[in-house]
Amino acid sequence: MGKAVIIACDFAGRKELEAFLDQFEGETLYLKIGMELFYAEGPEIVREIKRRGHKIFLDLKLHDIPNTVKKAMAVLSRLDVDICNVHAAGTKAMMEAALEGLTREDGTRPLLIAVTQLTSTSQERMTEDLLIDHPLDEVVMHYAKNAADSGLDGVVCSPLEAGKVHDVCGKSFLTITPGVRFADSEVGDQVRVTTPEKAKELGSDYIVVGRPITAAPDPVAAYRRCVKEFLG
Ligand code: C5P
Repeated sequence: MGKAVIIACDFAGRKELEAFLDQFEGETLYLKIGMELFYAEGPEIVREIKRRGHKIFLDLKLHDIPNTVKKAMAVLSRLDVDICNVHAAGTKAMMEAALEGLTREDGTRPLLIAVTQLTSTSQERMTEDLLIDHPLDEVVMHYAKNAADSGLDGVVCSPLEAGKVHDVCGKSFLTITPGVRFADSEVGDQVRVTTPEKAKELGSDYIVVGRPITAAPDPVAAYRRCVKEFLG
């Protein structure tokens, strides 16, 4: 399983995305498409990106009853995305159903990744709002283990957690890690950040990088720098 830099395409619509992609003439990219763009433009945006030859991590974070998730995953599988995801909080039964729905008749399927606890959830909110009173890092590892036991391919986590996830879930269990910044760039609203080079050292399999590339004065140069630091 190769490592890659995934660009988080948090654009409001097709026009902004196309303007961004046009700068990368002839290059095959790995793009993360989230709810905003998908809900604004619909599945056609996915087909268009695939027509341009790029790979897609469709970040829709499904969480519903197993049967509904299974059917929704079958639709995403037909869209030919490369990675999609679910909330591990949906239970092992839901994750197993997701995997089933995703698997095509010929046995192939996109990679399936779990979201553990969102980084926006603090220990305090988890305890008070969700009545989960275990330590946050224990909950994250438990959810990761549930995902691995359900046959999923990996989790989204911080690069700082990648080593522990690999220890608990196995070396080949993928860690997809956002929160990446160049040593000399703006941190923005991210709290715990690491450089692409450090993420590589910590064992991240895929890094998800948004604004350090999309908001750079020269996005192509920023992307190349990121690839060089992470893969080089
Ligand atoms: O612009 P930036 O590099 O911060 O973008 C990171 C991307 O990763 C965004 O799309 C963000 O929603 C996503 N993400 C994150 N932290 C998580 C999960 C997803 O930053 N824990």
